[in-house]
Amino acid sequence: MTPQENYHDWLRDAHAMEKQAESMLNAMSSRIDNYPDLRARIEQHLTETQGQIKLLETVMDRNDINRSLMKDATSKMAAMGQSFGGMFAPDEIVKGAISSYVFEQFEIACYTSLITAAEKAGDSASIDIFKQILAEEKAMAEWAINHIPDVTEQFLLRSAAEGVEAKK
Ligand SMILES: [Fe+2]
Repeated sequence: MTPQENYHDWLRDAHAMEKQAESMLNAMSSRIDNYPDLRARIEQHLTETQGQIKLLETVMDRNDINRSLMKDATSKMAAMGQSFGGMFAPDEIVKGAISSYVFEQFEIACYTSLITAAEKAGDSASIDIFKQILAEEKAMAEWAINHIPDVTEQFLLRSAAEGVEAKK
């Protein structure tokens, strides 16, 4: 395979990854009732993610990538999303906070790879877009890891209290 062919596959994967992120963030934010800081940050990243999807589509259009071939990659990523389950578990808020961080790290690694692939495939016009997306993923990862102690502590307090919902 040529560098272009691999690069195009990875662009499709990145698009599928963001579609998956969009549905996960959507599901999480709509379920959270008692953790307003986490909910607000997830909603912010949901908006960022929708912007990233649009940006990736401009890159795909510039590279003449046929959108009808994108289905495959999307279902591949859907399977991966399942493994971030934990939703509906009694401690789903803590599991969700951990999963969010893990998913952001996955995205960071993908865009880091994609930047090199874009260089090697000669699509230097897209590199700034990937760097912009990468900065958003890093900021979200940073926020997520920094707030895990807080979410955990709030969860433990709520969980120990009688008649208080802790899970979401
Ligand atoms: Fe993203």
